[in-house]
Amino acid sequence: MIFHVKNKMISSREIQLSSFINEIIKVFSMHHHKEMEEELKFFLNDNDAILPSEEMIRIDFIPDLKYSLENIKGDMIRFADYTAKISEHVQWHVADKVPEFFEGGYYFSEIIGDSGLVPSKNIRMGLYLQNQNVDYPSHAHEAEEFYLILSGNGSWQIGDSWFDAIPGRIFHHQPGESHRMITESEPLLGIWIWTGLIEGRYWFIGHED
Ligand SMILES: [Fe+2]
Repeated sequence: MIFHVKNKMISSREIQLSSFINEIIKVFSMHHHKEMEEELKFFLNDNDAILPSEEMIRIDFIPDLKYSLENIKGDMIRFADYTAKISEHVQWHVADKVPEFFEGGYYFSEIIGDSGLVPSKNIRMGLYLQNQNVDYPSHAHEAEEFYLILSGNGSWQIGDSWFDAIPGRIFHHQPGESHRMITESEPLLGIWIWTGLIEGRYWFIGHED
């Protein structure tokens, strides 16, 4: 089923994607990330093709997903229902093409993007789940990136600075800026967004080849 209805992204199958994105816009606006706010608004206005996933994806095999979805609370509760529904409609990928010790350390999906529910040439957006007790080693990419933490916690390194990753926090990585995420007893669930050079290079620090 393909929908070509401009500005009409809500239907039972489309899991209220525009409402979900509008909630993200509000959070970015509150945190004064004007450019991303405008980028997402542009996406909502410009987008006229919706490609709902035909099959339900089995998500039971992702150990921490159910827990992380149910753990969305506080200010982030506004995302709980959307995220739970979307998580059933997106294609989940397990971390591969990463250093051996890190394989299976996280899962990601695309909501906006080539393998997502909605295509876009300018932006990619999806869900990110990092398992507990995982060190996502320092890496960087040419795309500019944002994360919005929905549930769980961890430690986040950007360049030489460390931050607490807690729900509601936004992390912003400039193109080429190194970042590393460490979880301990809790998994971490968030929304990631790529903009700029979304087809650009991606590398692990110290393994630039
Ligand atoms: Fe990244």
